Amino acid sequence: MGLFTKDIKTMDDLFVHQLQDIYYAEKQLVKAIPKMADKATDATLKQGFMTHLAETKVHVQRLEQVFEMHGAAVKAVDCPAIDGIIEEAEEVAGEVDDKSVLDAALINAAQAVEHYEITRYGSLVAWAKQLGRNDCAAVLQKTLDEEKATDKKLTTLAESKINLRAAG
Ligand SMILES: [Fe+2]
Ligand SMILES: [Fe+2]
Repeated sequence: MGLFTKDIKTMDDLFVHQLQDIYYAEKQLVKAIPKMADKATDATLKQGFMTHLAETKVHVQRLEQVFEMHGAAVKAVDCPAIDGIIEEAEEVAGEVDDKSVLDAALINAAQAVEHYEITRYGSLVAWAKQLGRNDCAAVLQKTLDEEKATDKKLTTLAESKINLRAAG
């Protein structure tokens, strides 16, 4: 969306641009999630990361499917927001020594990622419907549901044991 890129003129342009943005984000996450899983100590958290990695690979495929359904080229555009969230997660993880505290920090970072995805997919679903692309909306909704479910699981995990252990 910078000075030298093509202007976004229509709602359709905006929809496609946001697809490209989240496509970049999902592909970065396929690389970042295994590193977060490596750092996690709690077995449930580690497994949770691996489960969501598998889902994230499907999110990439679904986006490719939506590009195709919408007749747009499969393309990624840099998304500084997700780069920042991932960078911060790696920085914080590097600064936390205590393994239990690190698990709490990893959950916090993972939830920042999920919330980012939820906002993006929420708009994409709404825009797809507005553009008369209920077929695209249905595919994007599947991913949105998985991001929301992951966020809920992380909250439950944090509140049921990880935060307690980190504080103890
Ligand atoms: Fe995702
Ligand atoms: Fe996600």
